[in-house]
Amino acid sequence: MPAIVLVGAQWGDEGKGKATDLMGEDVDYVVKFNGGNNAGHTVVIETDGKREKYALHLLPSGILTPTVTPIIGNGVVVDLEVLFEELDGLNERGVDTSKLLVSANAHVIAPYNRTLDKVTERFLGARKIGTTGRGIGPTYADKMNRVGIRIQDIFDEGILRQKVEAALSFKNQVLVKIYNTRAAEADRVVEELLSYADRLRPMVADTALVLEQALNDGKNVLLEAGQATLLDVDHGTYPFVTSSSATAGGGCTGSGIPPTRVSRVIAILKAYTTRVGEGPFPTELDDDNGEFLRKTGAEYGTTTGRPRRCGWLDVVIGRYATRINGVTDFVITKLDVLTGLPKVPICVAYDVDGVRHDEMPVGQTDFHHAKPIYEELDGWWEDISGCRTFEELPANAQAYVLRVEELIGARVSAIGVGPGRHEIIERHALLD
Ligand code: GDP
Ligand code: IMO
Ligand code: MG
Repeated sequence: MPAIVLVGAQWGDEGKGKATDLMGEDVDYVVKFNGGNNAGHTVVIETDGKREKYALHLLPSGILTPTVTPIIGNGVVVDLEVLFEELDGLNERGVDTSKLLVSANAHVIAPYNRTLDKVTERFLGARKIGTTGRGIGPTYADKMNRVGIRIQDIFDEGILRQKVEAALSFKNQVLVKIYNTRAAEADRVVEELLSYADRLRPMVADTALVLEQALNDGKNVLLEAGQATLLDVDHGTYPFVTSSSATAGGGCTGSGIPPTRVSRVIAILKAYTTRVGEGPFPTELDDDNGEFLRKTGAEYGTTTGRPRRCGWLDVVIGRYATRINGVTDFVITKLDVLTGLPKVPICVAYDVDGVRHDEMPVGQTDFHHAKPIYEELDGWWEDISGCRTFEELPANAQAYVLRVEELIGARVSAIGVGPGRHEIIERHALLD
């Protein structure tokens, strides 16, 4: 069987976790291929009428499904303390996590990179990115700079010490002389990382090989992105992005699965737009409507608790996501949040200094100046959370979905109408 990639279409928090969890019932492997514990996925599961909420950061959302083998791919950056905290938390709640595999080539977030993330942001002041402070950027920078620590290094004390000392010979100068903070002690860093070795060893594998064999055996593999298209380091709103490849192409490099084995790309699109951290956001609302979306959609960060910036749906971004990821299917989430609005605006193009742009402007300055051009659709008042077929939706909600589908250029295969695992309308099967 081929592999499927699942990505976020906007600036993150579209509901990727819920979609992955839902598909987990039908797939054999779920691979997280980029990012680390900057991600925050809330998954709500109903058992015997009771709702249980899980917040996942580093672990793939497929971990909640007993039949799934969850994999942390080579493209991920792993904070080992967080890994074991998250595993312990799930084990205490009765979730079996014993099938988890971790790529030997994934990079490790060393403690000094957490420090560097925070002090760099402080140093930038008004020019800060608004990162999650988890050490993500400095760890990917080390990877590219070829001074990173990989999972496999934890099992060779000599190599680990060499690498930590090499990294610190430069970083400690920066920490002390530029940021006026304390130097990291190589011995303590090595000791901390080694303390995880025994527990980590049985999970570590050549995950690219495991996945190749799984695909050859006819298994279903789902590649799950953290973050989203506009946070991608190449295709996002640089420099206000994360430091990894969150788009579909990253699914291949971050897992070792070749592009020729990917058959479908599913993008998750929230029915409105949110963003956490700094950076341009053309449809952002600083008024009652923004507050309505934040309150009704419970738009507060799963990772940092920060209130998310909210705005109307932007299909210029939707189209861009279709193009960059080669989206075959969209899942529109949180349609229920728009219930009760008299009019539902969709941003269909931008006005940049008097010139209409139907596509993302080429330059960053133009995107900062982009003013949304809206098309207004009629709203609906009926509670849609119980709808399970497209036909059950009120006519105006159907019209909204169909118009979005037309504008984004790929079919809408599912529609989220509530946070629960099964609060979703499936129009087309997400798995063949
Ligand atoms: P992710 O980072 O893309 O996995 O998304 P988050 O979990 O950070 O944020 C999405 C939030 O929306 C979570 O709290 C989900 O429980 C919730 N959610 C997902 N789909 C729906 C939906 O269709 N309706 C509503 N009301 N909530 C949803
Ligand atoms: P999920 O997977 C929303 C944002 C941060 C910041 C920028 C860089 O839950 O959709 P980083 O710590 O990655 O260096 O921060 O990226 N960011 C996210 N925003 N959802 C996420 O993940 C995010 N992960 C990072 O807020 O603006
Ligand atoms: Mg999230």
